[in-house]
Amino acid sequence: MELKQLEYFIAVAEELSFTKAATRLFITQPPLSRQIQQLEQEIETPLFIRKARSIELTDAGEFFYQHATKILQHAEEAKLMTRRIGTLQQEFKLGFVGSVLFGYLPQIIRQARINNRDFKILIEEMDTPTQIRALKSGLIEVGFGRILIEDPAITSIILRREPLIVATPLDHPLVNLHRPLQLSDLVGETIILSRVHDRPPSYLPLLTDAFKQRQLPFPEIREEGDLQFAIGLVAAGEGISIVPSSYKKIRFNVVYHSLEDPSLAASINMHFRKGDSSPIITSLLSIIYDLYDHDAITHTKESLTNLVS
Ligand code: BEZ
Repeated sequence: MELKQLEYFIAVAEELSFTKAATRLFITQPPLSRQIQQLEQEIETPLFIRKARSIELTDAGEFFYQHATKILQHAEEAKLMTRRIGTLQQEFKLGFVGSVLFGYLPQIIRQARINNRDFKILIEEMDTPTQIRALKSGLIEVGFGRILIEDPAITSIILRREPLIVATPLDHPLVNLHRPLQLSDLVGETIILSRVHDRPPSYLPLLTDAFKQRQLPFPEIREEGDLQFAIGLVAAGEGISIVPSSYKKIRFNVVYHSLEDPSLAASINMHFRKGDSSPIITSLLSIIYDLYDHDAITHTKESLTNLVS
């Protein structure tokens, strides 16, 4: 039984006329009648009652019509989905949280485009929970963020820990210290933090704990706007900020100071579907680790084979 026969049968069943069905199908009547007869012979059941001036579906014909329409619909869906998967294979989409844009992301994307010319690499800013949903529904292939995810369907790895630094206005007294800062230097300050996707930065709990452990009063926190906005408020003298060190790229009339404690760091994490061993994921990981090695960035390189198998 061929799909074409089903298509012919459906046309005759809906038009209840061989002449009209033949016109609809852009064929002549004799081959149409032949195909319907062959179908009836194959099924070994009459599908139509042929009268002098009209035709009707038999009960078996009615039953077959319900199934034939579904089969054609499924075949069409299979064709469309397969075509979509075929196109998707040529696209590789990454999700990232805004705060990793100041790190190596631009270099990684540029290199990934050079190394994987067969793929169209697309990027979209989204928070981590959205990345995880997008990974599961196949909308993205990889996500980069600042929090680790525990999900049986997702591999989530720490790529590196980025030291936190302090941003102050140009004329702030801390500028005169000319040394790495300690948390005790920040007591009494107002700390301005960004609030992106209605969430405070991932490292806020780490900071709170660090002040608590040192028995220092926690500074006043103001959470406002996006990353650049927070730095803009610092430049305006509204307070100071604590940010990942890659934010140094935001040159905005502020001075950046390192912190003495290396444990004060925000991680950069990568998420992908568990077991996804597509070559482009392996390629991305090697690009990232090569960049780290080139710049002598400390990282815990995990075996690529272990990660994607
Ligand atoms: C990084 O700065 O280390 C980084 C940023 C985005 C994606 C992966 C790594």
